[in-house]
Amino acid sequence: MPTINPGFSTLAVHAGAAPDPATGARATPIYQTTSFVFENADHAAALFGLQQFGNIYTRIMNPTQAVLEERVAALEGGTAALATGSGHAAQLLTFHTIMQPGDNFVAARKLYGGSINQFGHAFKSFDWQVRWADTDDPASFENGIDERTRAIFIESLANPGGTFVDIAAIAGIAQRNGIPLIVDNTMASPYLVRPLEHGADIVVHSLTKFLGGHGNSMGGIVVDGGTFDWSKSGNYPMLSEPRPEYAGIVLHQTFGNIGFAIAARVLGLRDLGPALSPFNAFMILTGIETLPLRMQRQCDNALAAARWLKNHPKVTWVSYAGLEDDPNHALQQRYSPKGAGAVFTFGVTGGYEAGKTLVEGLQLFSHLANVGDTRSLVIHPASTTHRQLTEEQQIAAGAGPDVVRLSIGIEDIADIIADLDQALSKI
Ligand SMILES: Cc1ncc(COP(=O)(O)O)c(C=O)c1O
Repeated sequence: MPTINPGFSTLAVHAGAAPDPATGARATPIYQTTSFVFENADHAAALFGLQQFGNIYTRIMNPTQAVLEERVAALEGGTAALATGSGHAAQLLTFHTIMQPGDNFVAARKLYGGSINQFGHAFKSFDWQVRWADTDDPASFENGIDERTRAIFIESLANPGGTFVDIAAIAGIAQRNGIPLIVDNTMASPYLVRPLEHGADIVVHSLTKFLGGHGNSMGGIVVDGGTFDWSKSGNYPMLSEPRPEYAGIVLHQTFGNIGFAIAARVLGLRDLGPALSPFNAFMILTGIETLPLRMQRQCDNALAAARWLKNHPKVTWVSYAGLEDDPNHALQQRYSPKGAGAVFTFGVTGGYEAGKTLVEGLQLFSHLANVGDTRSLVIHPASTTHRQLTEEQQIAAGAGPDVVRLSIGIEDIADIIADLDQALSKI
């Protein structure tokens, strides 16, 4: 990639990739191998001792994954990244790197339902506690912080509510308290929002959504912002204390601004094991090449669909930050001026039953539990993705009983609207 200071679309196609040195292959090859031959015994020992970077075993790293990691790090403006088998695995490895039993973190209440479950239930087995805070009131994050708090976690654009968050305000609270801000940037993608530029320290993604973009491959990624001082407080011992597995190496001291990504790889991915398959890395890399084109088209289609729904007599409300009169519009303009994303929610007259009729009546839209596909998708979150939550939690997460969620695809907008029209006419 010869260009100086390449733009986002150039990075989406080229970052991390070069013609294959062995064959000249231009597309990144799928290195479908479990392991890599060492040059000699000293080379093997240097790799295992972290004295030299290189491929050992695909659970820990792989050349196809490496291109994906470099590309997403470039798109987010981070120093390094670590690909994982799913978005949830990326979150698990992030917290595993910074939390000890008995520690806690403060998370936004408006999150993907699976993350609310992971934090509130699964993480209890590790004795990591979550405290919920309200993104409409950034001060509530500060109230949740005590001496055992190790991070703040938010989504830049919340799923399913479609609301933008004042990242800089929450980053300020994290900085004042000497803890990192972790941002799930799945729903916005770095095309719309780059959280590291607003003070975040770590970015996580479900690659399964907009980055892969075609609804065909699971994946996740953790991006190291390279700015947080993991050694200052002594509260992050995996990074700031000698590691017995690696002859006493102190990971932050040794690897500096990529220390977090290295620790997540050599202590988290190596030992917990949720690696991304090389084939999925290839599929997601190919998807990323068209991220700017897809994302812009999906935002434009979503705005047109939201405007149309807003004027429909059977629609009670539409929550889309791209609408000029939406309470979240000012934050969207500030953080994501290119568009408000492809996912939004609305309510229909007749509540739960009418919502069901609508979902079942749609023909172009697919009724399934995903977002960020090229295809338009629909779901009723209260009976599916957010069903494990109490009604109070569902409402707080933007997924109350009457809420229908759309993820708008890249089809012709006339066809998207015609399908919504015929399904609404069945109510
Ligand atoms: C915002 C957000 N974060 C994380 C996840 C989890 O990702 P995955 O399903 O790849 O584990 C999802 C999945 O829907 C999501 O929407």
